[in-house]
Amino acid sequence: MITFDAVTKRYPDGFVAVDNLSMEAETGRITVLVGPSGCGKTTTLRMINRMIDASEGRILLDGADVKEIDPPTLRRGIGYVIQQAGLFPHRKIVDNVATVPYLLGWDKKKARDRAMELLDRVGLDPKLAQRYPFQLSGGQQQRVGVARALAADPPVLLMDEPFSAVDPIVRTSLQEELLRLQSELNKTIVFVTHDIDEAIKLGDRVAVLRVGGKLAQFAAPKTLLSEPADDFVREFLGKDRGIRRLSFVSTEHLRLRTDLTVSSGTAAAGSSDGWLMVVSEDGRPVGWQGRDEPFGTYVHGKDSLRAALDAALLSPSGQAVAVDPAGKVVGIATREALDAALAEAADG
Ligand SMILES: Nc1ncnc2c1ncn2[C@@H]1O[C@H](COP(=O)(O)OP(=O)(O)OP(=O)(O)O)[C@@H](O)[C@H]1O
Ligand SMILES: [Mg+2]
Repeated sequence: MITFDAVTKRYPDGFVAVDNLSMEAETGRITVLVGPSGCGKTTTLRMINRMIDASEGRILLDGADVKEIDPPTLRRGIGYVIQQAGLFPHRKIVDNVATVPYLLGWDKKKARDRAMELLDRVGLDPKLAQRYPFQLSGGQQQRVGVARALAADPPVLLMDEPFSAVDPIVRTSLQEELLRLQSELNKTIVFVTHDIDEAIKLGDRVAVLRVGGKLAQFAAPKTLLSEPADDFVREFLGKDRGIRRLSFVSTEHLRLRTDLTVSSGTAAAGSSDGWLMVVSEDGRPVGWQGRDEPFGTYVHGKDSLRAALDAALLSPSGQAVAVDPAGKVVGIATREALDAALAEAADG
């Protein structure tokens, strides 16, 4: 656990970048620092590994004051990933990833084996190992940056806007990759971003900072969306707060119609104005009966209400096809059912 105990950072010119910050980053969890440019996110992050020293207060790593730990020892247990990956341009990818193992005096073979294992872990083709950073895409470079930070298997990972320099699609896949990695590795991660969507997607807990380095709110994403502490947080969460909240609402209670499906074997039962979903023999959705229009599915009870809405929007019928985890149709969520669930979510 990383504990900030009344931490203030005053730069030499007197500017207060972080003001009396108290919070905890739990072990094995992702804690996100989010806020507008200049609010002190990077300063906060760098005080953990002592690239910057706090002016007042204490930062404890599993109870030990980081000021009492000499910086090289401290940093051995803390991986650090920055925007643009910060790779060494004149070193091959494999050697970039093996940087810390080399520093730790591992023999070359062991360090390289470890690097190859990590490239695989972060989803990179081993063939890329012999390339130089400029021969990789931005997203690939970021993955190398993550692999490098993980090389010595540090318990703590600091990530400063690691995905902000890539396009939205690559960014989404990097975020998913990080969540997948984290489910295997359970690192204590402090992740900085100015993107509230990224914060909500990745954070177990999210700290919203305002300019002047003041903590506006520290809460789980769900709480942040349902109970913003003040106008600043509300504004920062933006107009889409309602929609985002739906990502945390279960589809468990969404009422399904089971009379709007037909088996693929049966002949068209007269033409109705309604939409009927044709279901194959093994229970999978085939398409709307008599209409060549798209449809969307969501996993009932597992996916969120937002996913169900997204699925409904895919089809001109405005209906979502509910399936079980095996992909078999369990019913249809109609516009009415979705509207009712939305209304209920707005009350709750
Ligand atoms: N060495 C310094 N001396 C004086 N002020 C500084 C120094 N370094 C940073 N600052 C100021 O401290 C504040 C916080 O900076 P910091 O880099 O932590 O912000 P940030 O939240 O990471 O911003 P961004 O989202 O733009 O990266 C800024 O106003 C910045 O200008
Ligand atoms: Mg910054």
